[in-house]
Amino acid sequence: MLQGEYGEAKALAMKLLVAVGDIFEAKRMIKVKSVQVSGVSYKTIGEAGLEFLEDLCRKGAEATVKTTLNPAGMDLTEWRRMRIPSDFARKQLRIISAFKRMRMNITCTCIPYFVGNRPGFGESVAWAESSAISFANSVLGARTNREGGPTALASSITGRTPLYGLHLDENRRPTHIVQVQTELRTDLDFSLLGYALGRKLGYCVPFITGTSMERNFDHLKTLGASMATSGAIALYHIGGITAESHLIIKEHDLHFLEKISIGKTALRSVREKLTFAESPKHVCLGCPHCSLKELGKVAKLVDGKRLKRKLWCFTSRETCEEAEKLGYVSAIGGAGGLVVKDTCMVVSPLEKIGVDQILTNSCKAAHYLPSSSRVRVALAPLEECVRFAVEGS
Ligand code: F3S
Repeated sequence: MLQGEYGEAKALAMKLLVAVGDIFEAKRMIKVKSVQVSGVSYKTIGEAGLEFLEDLCRKGAEATVKTTLNPAGMDLTEWRRMRIPSDFARKQLRIISAFKRMRMNITCTCIPYFVGNRPGFGESVAWAESSAISFANSVLGARTNREGGPTALASSITGRTPLYGLHLDENRRPTHIVQVQTELRTDLDFSLLGYALGRKLGYCVPFITGTSMERNFDHLKTLGASMATSGAIALYHIGGITAESHLIIKEHDLHFLEKISIGKTALRSVREKLTFAESPKHVCLGCPHCSLKELGKVAKLVDGKRLKRKLWCFTSRETCEEAEKLGYVSAIGGAGGLVVKDTCMVVSPLEKIGVDQILTNSCKAAHYLPSSSRVRVALAPLEECVRFAVEGS
């Protein structure tokens, strides 16, 4: 591949992976089962990214393994309902067309593991999108490094990734014990805990203990998303809950690890630090994208009511289709809310469509929105967000 025997695109992609492998002293390449590509929104990759993708197409790039995509900058079919400027929409559709020509699945979601890209225990993948990486490593027990858009694309084109980092057993062991000294009652509590942990430890592999938790995928996806945002944590373990915790407890002596505690005060401090909106007019849910269960919760809370504030729930197209069959989309729409597909509050151009202050349940969104879109954010658990949309205050 490197010598160009399989075409220019594969040679370019392999050159990039070899360079990364050299930096991390990888001994060899390994095959990957799937790829999640980030850098899909025109808002985040701009003109240069669009040109890069179209050039890759011209060079004959094609996915050789299952490849799914991160959210785009708009709902690909109903972007007018979001009031997306047509110039932005045209560019976004060109990006999608480039990915289609490269035979990638136009999933446009950060929860690929709920829509058919769900790697098995121990399988090596090359995923970009920090929240999905955390879920794949921690909850599913698959193996991926924190890929960026270009390396994920290169892995899709070659079907390979360098063997280093979290593909190796020794780097998956916990480095710290985190004792949680408060009860985690809501989805927001999990988001705040993840953010506090990432902020305190930066890069590490935490073993979380101290409070009772259940294997709730929605809580785990938001926990992982937050710790990957404030830190660079791509793998965490929780006894009896995450995929590798039983092996770790059996095979490693955890007594010698550094211990840190996180309590109520740390969670409160994160909430205060991330809150800038005094009077949000818009409620946005779905960072990471809403699961079917979360859409069901929202639908139940708004069914038969008339919303006083705008309510947008971001999810994948496939999840939206399932939610339609169960009547969730019509319940949310009937109340005046909107289920938005293919995009999210962070990578869509909220600032261009008149949104300036929002209420959300996601620390990841609260972290990025003030800088990426000049949107101010306040935080509340999902139920409170929906109640606010219904009651208006
Ligand atoms: Fe997903 Fe967008 Fe949040 S990609 S994790 S919804 S920033």
